[in-house]
Amino acid sequence: MRSHYCGQLNETLVDQTVTVCGWVHRRRDHGGVIFLDMRDRDGIAQFVVDPDTAEAFANADRSRNEYVLRITGSVRLRPEGTQNPDMPTGMIEVLSQEVEILNAAATPPFQLDDHGKVGEEVRLKHRYMDLRRPDMIDRLRLRSRISHSVRAFLEQQGFLDIETPVLTRATPEGARDYLVPSRTHPGEFFALPQSPQLFKQLLMVSGLDRYYQIAKCFRDEDLRADRQPEFTQIDIEASFIEESDIMGITESMIRQLFDEVLNVSLPEFPRMTWHDAMRRFGSDKPDLRIPLELVDVDDLMKDVNFKVFSGPANADDGRVAALKVPGGASLSRKAIDEYTDFVGIYGAKGLAWIKVNERAKGIEGLQSPIVKFMDGIIDDLLDRLDARDGDIIFFGADKAETVNEAIGALRVRLGADLELYNQDWAPLWVVDFPMFETDDKGRLSPLHHPFTAPACTPDEFRHDPANALSRAYDMVLNGTELGGGSIRIHDWQMQSTVLEILGIGEAEAREKFGFLLDALQYGAPPHGGLAFGLDRLVMLMTGANTIREVIAFPKTQSAACLMTDAPGEVTAEQLKDLNIRLRQKAKKAEDSSE
Ligand code: AMO
Ligand code: AMP
Repeated sequence: MRSHYCGQLNETLVDQTVTVCGWVHRRRDHGGVIFLDMRDRDGIAQFVVDPDTAEAFANADRSRNEYVLRITGSVRLRPEGTQNPDMPTGMIEVLSQEVEILNAAATPPFQLDDHGKVGEEVRLKHRYMDLRRPDMIDRLRLRSRISHSVRAFLEQQGFLDIETPVLTRATPEGARDYLVPSRTHPGEFFALPQSPQLFKQLLMVSGLDRYYQIAKCFRDEDLRADRQPEFTQIDIEASFIEESDIMGITESMIRQLFDEVLNVSLPEFPRMTWHDAMRRFGSDKPDLRIPLELVDVDDLMKDVNFKVFSGPANADDGRVAALKVPGGASLSRKAIDEYTDFVGIYGAKGLAWIKVNERAKGIEGLQSPIVKFMDGIIDDLLDRLDARDGDIIFFGADKAETVNEAIGALRVRLGADLELYNQDWAPLWVVDFPMFETDDKGRLSPLHHPFTAPACTPDEFRHDPANALSRAYDMVLNGTELGGGSIRIHDWQMQSTVLEILGIGEAEAREKFGFLLDALQYGAPPHGGLAFGLDRLVMLMTGANTIREVIAFPKTQSAACLMTDAPGEVTAEQLKDLNIRLRQKAKKAEDSSE
């Protein structure tokens, strides 16, 4: 139906006849001459319709925004003074001979150019309109190029693209499962996969050696700006490999991707232990673009006459950390109060600070609500932080976990607020994760998933599982966890031990993971892998603010689709087929109590 996309029209086509199909982006009536800005996937171009071409003119006259037209005409240079060098098609226009209305359009729910003025709900409800916007199209196009680059790289490295089931058993990745009732097995449920983890391991047992899949994963968890209930992983697994092999391959993949798609040459990927990341940045996904670090000052605070500090400084699980912000003494009281509220979100009970106005003046040159307690240690403190005139130092004192979360988040917030970034892209590997974390009741849960191999011998592991490190690794970019993986347990006894340590008894282990434990006994090769969050990768590479901006049809924060109105009710007949009886719905219960 067409010879060109709108966005392809330029001065090389002058005097040629072209036909485009697209949507009326804007229509202007200039005293007898009609100008139509026509839009398609590739861009926008200007069409002129003259009353001399009567039928074309009548159709142009009837057209409104978002009408679907097919236009044929000849390309000409725009008259001097009306050219727009900022637009790829801005030097030319098309003098239209034929204008055919392929379809009319109702008045759009929002003007595409005004999307910023309508709430996100309106955009999500009419997502098919929202996706007409050039910046949405650009992001989806980039997403397609990213998938393509990744596939080409992995295929070239000998990875096979293999699909794994969506109707399956629970795969534990730490979230709630989405369940699907079975009609043929009344009272039984499939779980949608939280990841293809177990299937990819079984493919290694089968000898497929190198697997990848761009796989949908489903997790019923609390949503944030970088999480969706249904998201996509670039999932990878390989046999007869060690950490350095898989980290090498995937680092090359990401490096090539950035080079091909963004023309960016990523810097070195430093490796940092989990322990160092927590100590220096209060986070297991540190944003290394921000040149601020947490500094331990516990030893200095042990004997100060300020319980808020001396308590945690003397407690086994406590931490007192300082964060120096060069030049931060100019922060207003109001700003500091805001930061105090901010760290409160992470459980901090306060945010002590010292402004270094004039260090040479000693205590007199400092401004702070706590300096009165720092007698005798202040010089050591300022020396350790290399504090200079004009700096501010913030302090967190609490359980180490709380301090890390709060001051770690403050560090990221200050980086953004004060624009402290010293590079565009800061990737790294975080390694040497603990195997487990311990909850309040002393129960262990896996930091990654229960199929991750410990970094020690089986004997050492059994002797002190709580302190074992794992063979897991995460790739972090600009403070976002892009991907994570590990070398897996390939020995069934070790796998049984780990499940047992997690409090999963033999019967439950057989019931949930019997197939894996069996498979591990039939000649499982050493293997490992990793999965990247494709949506997060696209979000970073496009500079989008939320993961929803890079997914064609995302869910809201409450895990619903506003366009299709899913999830929705089903008929009594369907429920009967599934052998399901609903408890009285909350809404009906409310109604009847009124
Ligand atoms: P993990 O649970 O770390 O590992 O997930 C891998 C990557 O997937 C992305 N991701 C998400 N993206 C959007 N929305 C979500 N709700 C969401 N949850 C996770 C993150 C994360 O780094 N099977 C293991 C991988 C392995 O061991 O090979 C797994 O799923 O970018
Ligand atoms: P207070 O003596 O409670 O008024 O606290 C003095 C200063 O210490 C204030 O600036 C508080 O914000 C700060 N502060 C209180 N608790 C903590 C804490 N757990 N960590 C860091 N600073 C704190």
